[in-house]
Amino acid sequence: MKTMVQILVIVGIGAIVLSSCRKDSMMTNSEGQVIPAIEGDFLAPLSVPPSINGQGTLTAQVTTATIFSGKKSKVLGYQPGSILGPTIAVNSGDNININFQNDLAENSNIHWHGLIAPSNMDGHPEDVARQGSSRNYSFTVSQRAGMYWYHPHPDGFTAEQAYLGLAGVFLVRDAEEQRLNLPSGEMEIPLVIQDKRITSNNDLDYSPTMMDVMTGYMGPNILVNGVSSPYKDVRTRNYRLRVLNGSNGRIYNLALSNNASFSVIGADGGLLATPQTVTSLLLGPGERADLIVNFSSYPVGTELFLVSNTFSAGASQGKQNFRIMKFRVTQSEKDSFTLPNTLSSINLISKSGANKTRTFDISNGGMGNMGGMSGMGSSGMTMKGMHRINDKVYDKSRIDEIVEAGSTEIWEFDNSKGDEPHPMHIHGVQFQVLDRIGGRNSLISTENGWKDTVLLLPGEKVRVIMRFGQNKGKYVLHCHNLEHEDDGMMLQFEII
Ligand code: C2O
Ligand code: CU
Ligand code: CU
Repeated sequence: MKTMVQILVIVGIGAIVLSSCRKDSMMTNSEGQVIPAIEGDFLAPLSVPPSINGQGTLTAQVTTATIFSGKKSKVLGYQPGSILGPTIAVNSGDNININFQNDLAENSNIHWHGLIAPSNMDGHPEDVARQGSSRNYSFTVSQRAGMYWYHPHPDGFTAEQAYLGLAGVFLVRDAEEQRLNLPSGEMEIPLVIQDKRITSNNDLDYSPTMMDVMTGYMGPNILVNGVSSPYKDVRTRNYRLRVLNGSNGRIYNLALSNNASFSVIGADGGLLATPQTVTSLLLGPGERADLIVNFSSYPVGTELFLVSNTFSAGASQGKQNFRIMKFRVTQSEKDSFTLPNTLSSINLISKSGANKTRTFDISNGGMGNMGGMSGMGSSGMTMKGMHRINDKVYDKSRIDEIVEAGSTEIWEFDNSKGDEPHPMHIHGVQFQVLDRIGGRNSLISTENGWKDTVLLLPGEKVRVIMRFGQNKGKYVLHCHNLEHEDDGMMLQFEII
């Protein structure tokens, strides 16, 4: 047992360390990006994870995978020999029944990001399987078609486990989507974009410094579906690229290297009402984008890159443009596909029907947020709280908001005094974005559809509206910069 005096001394030192770290990181940030991306050689083919239906076993384990051709890297996986789990593909209305086996040396669980699951199936941070034990997830997926995903969510270990390889795509299909005859089979490609840091042995390295906690843990190697800087051979056709930003902290400003336009047809919660034509698209951690890229006008032999262009988002991001993956047009083929003008029907939730408005201050501004002591675990004292919501650090024993089942609410995220980007995510619900004030001052293409994660750049205030379902129980809302989340930028709400 430490005495109170000792604890106070330690807290005092902690506050000094944190405050100097904060200044430090701001100085470094103002000079440019913290971790620049280093492009690979684009010589390894893109791999696509195998697909399973909603039945089976996922075993979190330490394993090896081929991220860099010809080399083995130590990673975490849900199956032996691969980083990232299988793609789970179901039809709306299906029941899933997944056995989760935790073969890690620490707590883990599975959160179904974007799926509306009962509270006890949602992978709440406190609802975990201990080392060596298992947990069954079964529930009915009754929402619309879309690209959702899954990843661990144990309190304090989400960032590390997701970063080291535990994540997967979850596709839901429905009749509304099927009717559109969108590019499918080989022409529908999930792209999970992540950035990694590696050791000299090519193993994934997760060892965040306090500065990494400030900015999010970024790595120089850009992986798509677990392969560093891959290429993909395509035919002169339309392709449906289903992109997930599965990075802990890095934002991508997606574009094609020749500046060609592409169509955004869907977002986190499925298809938009109408396709939106863009030449670039900002995608924050946790967000998804459903894209149609038309390769039909390119001569065979053309090489084209999916790139991330520079953007303005505070000091630590967007300072660099880099190539993510290469497309090689290798075969000419006739394509009769035309993108329909109407994709799906989206009923807008009316503002006047809202029962309640809540505000969440995520600015983390001012000198009040120097961090504090969050408790003493077996490994000693942990410092948390450089990132907060409403000046609160996540506390499992506190319910921050109580929401009535079936009610309609407006939640306002306020980053107007903040100097960091925050992708804000709410569990157990899909929302619509009402408006953005400050910063970009407008909505982007994906924000015209259903969302579960919305990016706030410095200076922005965003309002979202949603109707809560009938699943009662505890859920969380948090920043999906996973270092911020593990640092305590998460609150708990209960649907009653
Ligand atoms: Cu993708 Cu609470 O997370
Ligand atoms: Cu989630
Ligand atoms: Cu954040």
